[in-house]
Amino acid sequence: MTFRVIAGGRDAASTPGLLIHGAAQVATLAGGLRRGAAQDDVAIVSTTDTADRGGPGRRDAPVVACWEGAILAVGPRAATTRTLEAEGYPVSRFARLDAAGGTVTPGLIDPHTHLLFAGTREGELRLRQRGAGYLDILAAGGGILSTVNATRAASNEELAAHGRRWLAEMGRHGVTTIEAKSGYGLDLETELRLLEVAAALGREGPIDIVPTFLGAHAVPRDYRDRPDGTEAYVQSVIEEQLPGVAAQGIARSCDVFCEEGVFSADQARRILDAGKALGLVPRLHADELAASGGAELAAAIGAASADHLAAISAAGIDALAGAAEADHPVVATILPATTWFLMSGHYAPARRLIERGVPLALGTDFNPGTSPTPSLPLAMTIACLSLGLTPAEALAAVTINAAHALGMGDEIGSLEPGQAADLVVGGVPSVDQIPYWPGADLVCAVVKRGRVVIGGD
Ligand code: NIG
Ligand code: FE
Repeated sequence: MTFRVIAGGRDAASTPGLLIHGAAQVATLAGGLRRGAAQDDVAIVSTTDTADRGGPGRRDAPVVACWEGAILAVGPRAATTRTLEAEGYPVSRFARLDAAGGTVTPGLIDPHTHLLFAGTREGELRLRQRGAGYLDILAAGGGILSTVNATRAASNEELAAHGRRWLAEMGRHGVTTIEAKSGYGLDLETELRLLEVAAALGREGPIDIVPTFLGAHAVPRDYRDRPDGTEAYVQSVIEEQLPGVAAQGIARSCDVFCEEGVFSADQARRILDAGKALGLVPRLHADELAASGGAELAAAIGAASADHLAAISAAGIDALAGAAEADHPVVATILPATTWFLMSGHYAPARRLIERGVPLALGTDFNPGTSPTPSLPLAMTIACLSLGLTPAEALAAVTINAAHALGMGDEIGSLEPGQAADLVVGGVPSVDQIPYWPGADLVCAVVKRGRVVIGGD
């Protein structure tokens, strides 16, 4: 399934300009990475009534001007169009997109997904409802390992068809960029296939895909029966898989499931160091189910992000707070849809992390075991209801902070001149209403690199 491509206006095909007008609010997220109190500031430009300023009483709605796929200007309509005219961009040269009293935000960025896999695991939901633990199911050969079996047996075409289906769903929820992990191959051949399919889907567009190698997602079956199986598999990830992946140049990051009973902090460190030496940015599944030293490791090695953190220890919070003072802080990527779907009730201590100055991003963790939802707005709602984030904090977490978690804060995640023209028009008049309608279809239009890829008619 692909997006309907609808021109943004009469002359959309003949102009590189697109002017979004008529919004009640534009949340620009201008000003860089958000942490501490600033996480709650999404830099809103609102409709003003010029009568308040002694004007003729016309409402002055903000506009967003895009040119050749990048943001040119954002601001109140009257002043911004005057500036555009003065700089040689008369509004007549722009196609138009009417936001119709809605809210314009940067395109949403999902910084943690396991996009590509085969098969489903609804049976595990029943097992968990009867009290089985997630890691017990994995230890018994189910969980991730059952998805590995199905994924190894799937063709590239089947994997791509599945990916396209879920990318389309993500797009309909306003997502314009995602991170996508491998991790359901657990051998070089299948890990490479997953990364190649992700790259091909990214080239198809419109959603950009940032690929992460996750060979250390679980210990595969053939290694489990050996007494030194985990260690032998760690060696194969370091000596065979990582060099093979780096040689193809198709992953930007390396991730490890660092968790009691899966990979220890020491094993994760060795894998991530080896990846770093090959140019792969470290990030990790940290303290998802038990405090496993993941957050401390993320801070020590300068990871781009520490993800999950539902069971982070006090020492882990201290470590991330310390790293937040650094030039490139570790972004805490919280994944509350996973906690919700696992029914554990132990959510990441998001408020404490914000109080300690740790920048927060938010993802779906889309995967067939612990979070089969493609909806980032649903993750925003859960973050507000169960972690106490404000709607603005949640929005910053899926835009500019998610961009920083992916090392892309100077390209995407905010509506500022020079940034990519990736944006969403939502059918609600305020940012606060985005997480307020869980499950609703709020997206009226999506613009990717200045092109209207959803809605607009
Ligand atoms: O982030 N915990 C590790 N990885 C995924 C789950 C993968 C699966 O169960 O298939 C997660 O929760
Ligand atoms: Fe995950």
